[in-house]
This record gives sequence, structure tokens and C-alpha cells, in this order.
Amino acid sequence: MRSTIIAGNWKMYKTLEETRSFLEAFSQRLRSVPRHVGVVVCPPYTSLALAGEMLRGSSVGLGAQDMSEHDEGAYTGEVSWKMLASVGCGYVILGHSERRQYHGESDEQVNRKSTTALDHGLRPILCVGETLEEREAGTTADVVAGQVRGVLRGLSAESMARVVIAYEPVWAIGTGRNATPEQAQEVHALIRSLVAELYDERIAGQLTIQYGGSVKPDNAAGLLGQEDIDGALVGGACLKVDSFVQILETAGKKGELPQ
Ligand code: PGA
Repeated sequence: MRSTIIAGNWKMYKTLEETRSFLEAFSQRLRSVPRHVGVVVCPPYTSLALAGEMLRGSSVGLGAQDMSEHDEGAYTGEVSWKMLASVGCGYVILGHSERRQYHGESDEQVNRKSTTALDHGLRPILCVGETLEEREAGTTADVVAGQVRGVLRGLSAESMARVVIAYEPVWAIGTGRNATPEQAQEVHALIRSLVAELYDERIAGQLTIQYGGSVKPDNAAGLLGQEDIDGALVGGACLKVDSFVQILETAGKKGELPQ
């Protein structure tokens, strides 16, 4: 009823040559990944054009890790939707916690970027998640609900069909410490019920909600087995062909995984 999507966020890894050799090896391994699993790779800007060329005609989607809210102009260092579309991007990660943390991105900004992306045919992967202090203070539900409301503000019901939400507890990103399947499921269910409240049950039921934060081949089954976990946003484990493919294969068995 809703699609399973696994996205690999390369972050600031891989030169052009490394991109080429990764994608060559990766393409060879795709046969073992069931067709119903949506696969997206999100290399750094410098590798997007090459990746776009190498992936043309394949089932693998291409995403950027961020994007300007503006169409064009005097914005040094920024990259526009038009530039991303021109190299074959269909997705863009927005509001990643590393953007929020190191570049001060707010929900309002992420919301404006989402509007720009959706207006121009890019599917945003909108990231939300609490910090360790917030979890320990017992405010996870409020924090995540506030972020979801903030980033979705004003988005039409129609455009929600193209939105992906990624729940990424900040304390689990790059730390090797993943949320337990139960912890993640609890927040995913909360996000889905909030979306049902903001839109309707149908839209909420069809929304792909990814989990992110130290997803690895050995914990993917537990997480993806949860009812409301529809995919993953993978950092570290997407940089090696083997571990990324193992996660994709696990996602292919989603319906059969023990809950
Ligand atoms: P990680 O990163 O898998 O390395 O924890 C996930 C992310 O930041 O999207």
C-alpha cells in the first residue's frame, strides 16, 4: 500500500573516481534487489552529474543532500533545484540534522525548501528527530510533532503523495547506537497519526516514513519489520556496496520480517 524506499546519504564522502568505482560495482549487484524496493543514492554535489549519467535508465533514483530555497541568484555556495534537475536528481534530502546543527537550519527554512522542491518536481526527504537531551527530558513526541508540523506547513494534500519523511533521532546518527525497533516504531506511528490529523487517513497511510540513524545490515531487519517503518535513510553503511546491498535485500523482505 505504501512504497518502501531506502536512500543512501553519502554525506561528505567519495571523490569523482570513488563515485565511479562504487556505482560500477553497485550496478552489478542490483539484480538481487527486488524491484518493489525504491533505491536512492545521494552523493555530494560534485558527484551528482557523473552519478546521473551512470544511473540514467536504471531503477536507482538520484538525490541531493540539500538545496537552496531560491530559484537562482547571488547566493554563493548554494545549488538550485534547476541545477539538481538538470543532472537527473529526483530527490533531495532536506533538514538533515547535520544541516540543522552545523548550519542553523530551521523548520521554516526546511519548509520553504520543501515547497520549492515540490513545486519543481523533486521529492523531498524531510528529516526530523530529537536530540539526546530532548529524549532524556521526555520531550521526544513534542519535538518531533513540532518539526513535522513546521516542515509540512502549507504543503497541499496533493503534494503529500511525493513527500518522504525520515525520522532520525540525532543521538543515533553516526554513533553506532540505533534506536530500538520499538522506540522507532513508537515515533513513526506518532508521525503517521499526526499526518492523518493534518491531512487524512489515506494520505497518512500512503506516506513513506524512513528510519535513519546507524542502520546496518545486522539491525535492518528488526527496524524494517516494524509496521510503520517503510524504509531507511542510511549513512555510514551505504558507503560500501556490500553493506548497502544487504540492507536493500532485507528491505525486499519487508512483508515477511518478524515484527
Ligand atoms: P548513519 O547516518 O547511518 O551514519 O547514522 C544516517 C544519516 O545521517 O542519514
